[in-house]
This record gives sequence, C-alpha cells and structure tokens, in this order.
Amino acid sequence: SVQPVIMAGGSGTRLWPLSRAGYPKQFLVLSGNESLFQLAARRLADLASPDVQVAAPCIVGNEEHRFLVLDQLREVKLDPASVLLEPMGRNTAPALTLAALEALEGGKDPVLVVTPADQTVTQPAAFTAALQQAIRAADGGAIAILGITPDRPETGYGYIRTQSDAAGLAVAQFVEKPNLDTAKGYLAAGGYYWNSGMFVLRASVWMKALERFRPDIAEATAAAWAVRKTDAKFVRPGKAEFGAVPSESVDYAVMERCPGTDLSLRMIPLDAGWNDLGAWEAVWQVADKDAHGNASVGDALIADSENTLVHATSRLVGVVGLKDVVVVETADAVLVSDRARSQEVKQIVNRLGKEQ
Ligand code: GDD
Ligand code: MG
Repeated sequence: SVQPVIMAGGSGTRLWPLSRAGYPKQFLVLSGNESLFQLAARRLADLASPDVQVAAPCIVGNEEHRFLVLDQLREVKLDPASVLLEPMGRNTAPALTLAALEALEGGKDPVLVVTPADQTVTQPAAFTAALQQAIRAADGGAIAILGITPDRPETGYGYIRTQSDAAGLAVAQFVEKPNLDTAKGYLAAGGYYWNSGMFVLRASVWMKALERFRPDIAEATAAAWAVRKTDAKFVRPGKAEFGAVPSESVDYAVMERCPGTDLSLRMIPLDAGWNDLGAWEAVWQVADKDAHGNASVGDALIADSENTLVHATSRLVGVVGLKDVVVVETADAVLVSDRARSQEVKQIVNRLGKEQ
C-alpha cells in the first residue's frame, strides 16, 4: 500500500504576523474553511482507488504542535498512522528520514507520497491522476517529483529542467531557490518547471539516496531514531541526538544531486491549480478579488486602491490610495509591505527571533 507522509513542521515565517511560532501557517485557514494541513491530509486520503490502497497518514511535525495536529485531523475525521515529533526543526531531509525509518519497520518498504502541508490545489481530479502516475513510477524504483509550469520568476521554489525519453520525463537539472536573475533566465529559456515539493518514492530509495549524498544526515537521524520513545500515536526521536542532526532540505540534500547519477529522478507534470501559499503575494494570487484586484479578509474598507490585500483579524482596517500593497492586522502586530517583496517579511521575523 501507499504511505502518505505530511511534513508539517515548518515555521511559515513569511506569513508573519498571522503565522506564529505557536501557530504556523500550515494550521491556518487561508482559503475556504479548512486549514492548509487539513486540505493536504484530505487530498492524500482521496488518492485511494480500487488499485491503490492508501494507509493512514504519517505526520512529521514539531513537538510543540502535537495537539494542533491531532485536533485538526479529528476535525476532518482522519486518524494518523503515527505522528513523529521533532524536538526542534532540522528541515525536511531529517523529517523525511524519520518517516522512511518508521515506514521500513517490520520489513515493509512502502511507496511514500511525501507532501508539504502548506499548499492548495483547485482541481482534485487532476491532482489524483498525476499522483497515481507518480506512484506507478515510484513503484518501479524511481524518485518521482511533481512539476508545475511556472508563470513568474519566483525565487522561493526549486526549478527543474526535464528531458523526455520513452518512459516520460527525466529530470536533467534541479536547482533549488535560484536568485532572481537565474530564475528570469529559466523563464526566458523555457522548458523549466517549478518543484511542487511533493515527492513519491519507496522508503528504501530515500535511504539509499541520502546515504549516498549525505551519509552524515542519514547516520545522525538513525541514531536519534534508535533511541525513540513511543507514546500511543506519538513517536519521539532522542532529543540530544536529533539536535545533532545537520539541518538541510530534501531539495539540497538529495534532489539537486540526483541528475547525472544512476538514481532515476522522474518528473510528472501537475496541472491542478497548484499554489504554495508561501508568502502574502501567493495568498493574494489565490484570493477572490474585486474589479480592481483588491482582496480582503475580515473587517476591511478599501478605497481607490489597486491589487492590494488587506487581512484584518481584530480591528477594522481602512486603506486609501494603495497600489500593490499587503496589510495584515492582528491583535498585537501589523504588517505593511510592498506586495512583490512579501518574501522579505522573513527579515522582520529573523529580527524578532523567538518573540514572534
Ligand atoms: N517535519 C518538518 N520539519 N517539516 C518541515 C520542516 C521541519 O524541520 N521544515 C519545513 N517543513 C515542512 C513545511 O511545513 C512545509 O509543509 C514543507 O515541509 C516544505 O517546507 P518549506 O519550508 O515550506 O519549503 P519551501 O516552500 O521553502 O520549499 C520547498 O517547497 C517548494 C514548493 O512549495 C522546496 O521543495 C522547493 O523546491 C519547492 O519549490
Ligand atoms: Mg513552502
């Protein structure tokens, strides 16, 4: 059967001040009436078909959010197979390694469908079809990634160049988060896709790839796993041991290094209204807008403005004469940012440090 894995331990700092350390963006309701995490969990459950059995999801997240995870799953009537709790974030490569080690218990080697918890998809049928195709590729031993046709030189994503062959699309190049000039070059050149951040692969294939490219991460994570403690659905790797694991993303640790090796990295195009709500710019992109491109949530009054997003949570917010601006009001913090530069909100959060 297929094992869904949801990586839900990110801090979502670019959606400050709505996204906070104790309540990061994947648990926020940013579109519709379910949180991004709930949407991700339901999408994966819906992959089940007569030929594909889908196990209950494995969630990898932060210790601090364990009750948010359980409560939000209960709200959408899903039960996790397990919740792997990191004592601190070490980015996604160690997180996926914990899930792979859990999946390999008892001599099994399921296909993992690994997905972020911070995205939206508007066309579920197209999503399911692409994922089924990826599952078939992974079943045959490949690492399958889902690629999105880009529409702007976004620097927050990974870029993939493919090469077609008899079996579909092989990944010829993978570049994580290029700078703006490079991203512009890729868009101009054409033939590049964005990495959606979803990966489909057997647990053993992940371990093999990581052991090849980053044996230090593989070893340190295995050491933390070896001393884990289990408490009902919660599994806790050793704190000191996990603290010693190098912090790295799946993309830098493995994906960038696969092209040109004997590891088969395949790309399946995903055309399903995908959006990563990484920064306020993306929230504006998917929001319902008026004739002037303005979007608002909560008590907002917008006059003579264009392409502006106002998100009010606890007070009435009025804006006049704004263009391409994001205003986010919460009880104790307000953000006003150039919409196109909303990625840089990270800088403010970095300065706030732990206090956010
Ligand atoms: N368990 C766990 N632990 N999860 C984590 C951690 C961690 O330390 N860090 C991040 N995550 C989760 C986040 O909550 C999110 O759901 C997912 O892993 C991806 O992490 P992000 O931090 O959001 O990555 P990104 O958006 O910068 O980049 C990734 O996604 C892009 C598409 O959305 C990369 O895969 C890019 O290549 C890709 O284009
Ligand atoms: Mg993200």
